[in-house]
Amino acid sequence: MQTTVLGRTGLEVSVAGLGGGGHSRLGKSYGRSHDESVAVVRRAIDLGVSFIDTAAAYGTEEIVGDGIRASGETVVVSTKFSPYGKDGLVKGADVKRFAEKSLKRLRLETLDVYSLHGVVAEDYAYCRDELVPALLALRDQGKIRFPGITERFNSDPAHVMLGRALDDDVFDVVMVGFNLLNPSAARSILPRAKAAGVGTQIMFAVRRALSQPDALAEVVGGLVERGEVDGSGLDLERPFDFLLDAAGSVVEAAYRFCRHAPGADVILTGTGRVEHLEENLGFIQGDPLPASVLAQHEARFGAVDSVTGN
Ligand SMILES: NC(=O)c1ccc[n+]([C@@H]2O[C@H](COP(=O)([O-])OP(=O)(O)OC[C@H]3O[C@@H](n4cnc5c(N)ncnc54)[C@H](OP(=O)(O)O)[C@@H]3O)[C@@H](O)[C@H]2O)c1
Repeated sequence: MQTTVLGRTGLEVSVAGLGGGGHSRLGKSYGRSHDESVAVVRRAIDLGVSFIDTAAAYGTEEIVGDGIRASGETVVVSTKFSPYGKDGLVKGADVKRFAEKSLKRLRLETLDVYSLHGVVAEDYAYCRDELVPALLALRDQGKIRFPGITERFNSDPAHVMLGRALDDDVFDVVMVGFNLLNPSAARSILPRAKAAGVGTQIMFAVRRALSQPDALAEVVGGLVERGEVDGSGLDLERPFDFLLDAAGSVVEAAYRFCRHAPGADVILTGTGRVEHLEENLGFIQGDPLPASVLAQHEARFGAVDSVTGN
C-alpha cells in the first residue's frame, strides 16, 4: 500500500482511507451484519489501509473499533461529532462528552483526528468560537490528537465554509468533496491546504453519479443544459467515455483522478462489499491519468462547482 504524510500532523498513512459513512456505512445501510461489516474493515487493514474515517452519526464506530482490534494493527482513526443537536447548535461544554462516547465505542484511548462534522458556512463562526476551544482543550488533555473539520458538500459544493476555515488555520485536517464532476477544490482548497500543511481527506471521489451510468448522464445533462459544461461533441449518454482510453472504468478513472491531485492526501473509499474494496484500493494506487486526458477533462469540467455527484 502506498503511503503519504497527512500534512502537518506528520502521521504516515495509507493513500487510501476506508470510509465508514457515505451511502453504504460499511454495509450497515443495506442490512449487512456487524460481523460482515467488521470483515470489510479487517480486509482493508490486511490490504494495508492504515487510515479509517467514521463518525458518531454513522453508527459505525463500534464496527471500526472491532475491526481494528481484531486485526491487531495500528490504524489512524478519524471520527467526528455533529455540531447540530436536536435542539440546535451544541455547546462547547458538550464536546467532551461526545468525544468520550466515541472513545468508548471505538474502545480507544485517543482519537487521532477529531472533526466537526458537516459544518455549513453560516454556522462556521459559531463553531470556531464556541466549539474549537473545546477541541483544543481535549487535545491538551490527550483525548484527541488533531482537530479537524468537514464540509457539507451537498449544500456547499463551492467550499465556502472550508475557505473560511483555511483563513483561520485552526484545523490540522480538513475533509473536502472532490471528484471528476466537481473538481473545484483543486483550485480553491487543495493548494491552500497544502501550502499551510493542513492534511486533506477526500470524500465523494465516487458516489452514485460516478458509479451508475444513468445518474452520470442525468448530472452531466443538467450541467450542459445550464450552460456550465460545453456539451458539443460530448455523448450525453456516456459523457465520461473519453476517460476510458486511459482507465478500465469511470470508477477507476475517478479514483486515479483524485489520488494524483496535488494536495490530496487520503482518498476515502466506503463500501460494504469486500470486492468493491479490493477493486478500489487497486484503483487508488493506479497511475495518474495521462496529461492529454486530464486536459480534455479540465477543458469541459474544470470550472464546475455546482454539483456533487451524490
Ligand atoms: N461531511 C462529511 O463529513 C462526509 C460526507 C460524506 C462522506 N464522508 C466520509 O467520506 C467517506 C467517503 O465518502 P464518499 O462520499 O466518497 O462515498 P463512499 O462512502 O466512498 O461511498 C461510495 C459508494 O459507491 C459504491 N461503490 C464503492 N465502490 C464501488 C465500485 N467499485 N463500483 C461501484 N460502486 C461502488 C458504494 O456502494 P457499495 O457498498 O455497494 O460498494 C458506496 O455506496 C465516507 O464513507 C465517510 O467516511 C464524510
